[in-house]
Amino acid sequence: MRQKIVAGNWKMNNTLDEGLKLTTEIANMVADEVRGDVRVILAPPFIHLSQVKSLIKDTDKLFLSAQNCNENESGAYTGEVSTSMLSSIEVEYVIIGHSERREYFNESNEQLAKKIDATLSEGLLPIFCCGESLEVRESGDFISFICNQINESLFHLSTEQFSKVVIAYEPIWAIGTGKTASSEQAQDVHAEIRKYVASKYGDKIADETTILYGGSAKPANAPELFACPDVDGGLIGGASLKSRDFVDIVKSF
Ligand code: 13P
Repeated sequence: MRQKIVAGNWKMNNTLDEGLKLTTEIANMVADEVRGDVRVILAPPFIHLSQVKSLIKDTDKLFLSAQNCNENESGAYTGEVSTSMLSSIEVEYVIIGHSERREYFNESNEQLAKKIDATLSEGLLPIFCCGESLEVRESGDFISFICNQINESLFHLSTEQFSKVVIAYEPIWAIGTGKTASSEQAQDVHAEIRKYVASKYGDKIADETTILYGGSAKPANAPELFACPDVDGGLIGGASLKSRDFVDIVKSF
């Protein structure tokens, strides 16, 4: 069955105290207000992960994600964090290939394929981000651009491995800009992604793949986005830093 997910990507925001306060608020609201079939994921900075885990481990509705990982097992990679470190503190998901990592840290599709492998081999679940810049969108060729990202980073996986992957479509022109993709734009791209996944892994796997939308999602526009047949939830940036807004988005299905 396709899993509904709302994930909060905090990016480089919140001190540890602020992050724990936000987690406690979200955990309380989720316990009281959120129905059981939606999976809520928090993706705080690395240094928060362990303590956020302690706060959410007694609930079955909240899950933990890292925002990145290194593709190597261990060794002389100063400042980096491995997937075995993440699984040792019971992180469940890892965001791979966020557009900010692609842009500011030059992460290529090929390197992201290695990060996907490192994640899966440690039993972690990847949230793989794809999406086009405004320039690519305006060129008209954005579907083939997105399919190429998916092909080069994911299509080496076996069917069994691929079935663990969550895809997040995040048009770069909509991230942090307040300019959300319309629900038609999101639905069109999500349907194309699902069709492309079906061409490689078949209809059943494609139908079961969770595809999230990300980019200026907020309580006001989430209901319309989540009502689209191929939009299975959201990857939320700015609005995930306010507990009320984030939980209202979770309740938008
Ligand atoms: P915003 O919701 O702030 O636009 O960010 C989206 C995003 O990049 C989530 O990963």
